[in-house]
Amino acid sequence: QKTVPEFVLTYAENQAEDYPTTQGAYKFAELVYEQTGGRVEIQVNAGGVLGDEKTVIEQLQFGGVDFARVSLSPLAEFVPKLNVLQMPYLYTGREHMWKVLEGPIGTDFMNSFGGSSLVPLSWYDAGARNFYSTAGPIESLDDIKGLKIRVQESELMMDTIQALGATPVPMAFGDVYSGLQTGEIDGAENNWPSYESTRHYEVAKYFTLDEHTRVPELQLAAQSTWDKLPEEYRNIIRDCAQKSALYERELWDEREKTSEDRVRRAGCVVTELDAGEKERFQEAAAPMYEKYCSEYVD
Ligand code: GCU
Repeated sequence: QKTVPEFVLTYAENQAEDYPTTQGAYKFAELVYEQTGGRVEIQVNAGGVLGDEKTVIEQLQFGGVDFARVSLSPLAEFVPKLNVLQMPYLYTGREHMWKVLEGPIGTDFMNSFGGSSLVPLSWYDAGARNFYSTAGPIESLDDIKGLKIRVQESELMMDTIQALGATPVPMAFGDVYSGLQTGEIDGAENNWPSYESTRHYEVAKYFTLDEHTRVPELQLAAQSTWDKLPEEYRNIIRDCAQKSALYERELWDEREKTSEDRVRRAGCVVTELDAGEKERFQEAAAPMYEKYCSEYVD
């Protein structure tokens, strides 16, 4: 006989069913279900059906959604200190980012959500973000000048694109495909798996491996939901979130490769920036540090 759950909770995810973060969400739900003996059931809603990321964060704040996985870019509009963790050209690579997130700095950021009505649970990987465009390859800083580039709903992202000489167009993730198709935007930026999974590569086939930023992601709980859960379940949920994050990172590594492979085979034109050009991008984005990090120099 099936145990009747004490709690049936919703989880919002804006990626497709087979995407690493979504698979991580299912793993999380499965582990929580098992470890609470079926008393906590988490229902994963993928594909953005509960709304775009900004809306989902707002819903978390009043408990309309119980859990979600979101990108730090829109989240930093609600918890500004998080911008520090996603500054352009901040990390030397994946290992560097994970060393920061899994060390005392990451813990310190996790502990600074007070007053946000959000409870951070675990970091997820989202690789490095790169530009892609519809009309021709971006091979230099000059090529990006004047292009209308879609950005996440984030002031830091808008400012960064502007500093590079392009025009930022903030837009929900789900609207980017049609934006590219209709010419409302000339390009966007994202990691390999998102570029592939959303099929943006079909309408924007020029991809530039510039790795201008790494934007980590977080699994979150609504504070109001959290407050209702007994301590025992909270501990299980934290632990399962962490386990699901490790699982997500494994899937992420594989998916980065298969996505890159798929889009290359589909005929996308991949441009690698030479070191000098990369430096020009980096210099152009440098003023962001003064604006977004001066309060957090330590
Ligand atoms: C990544 C991230 C999403 C986000 C998207 C975006 O794909 O995983 O959560 O919505 O970037 O560019 O908006």
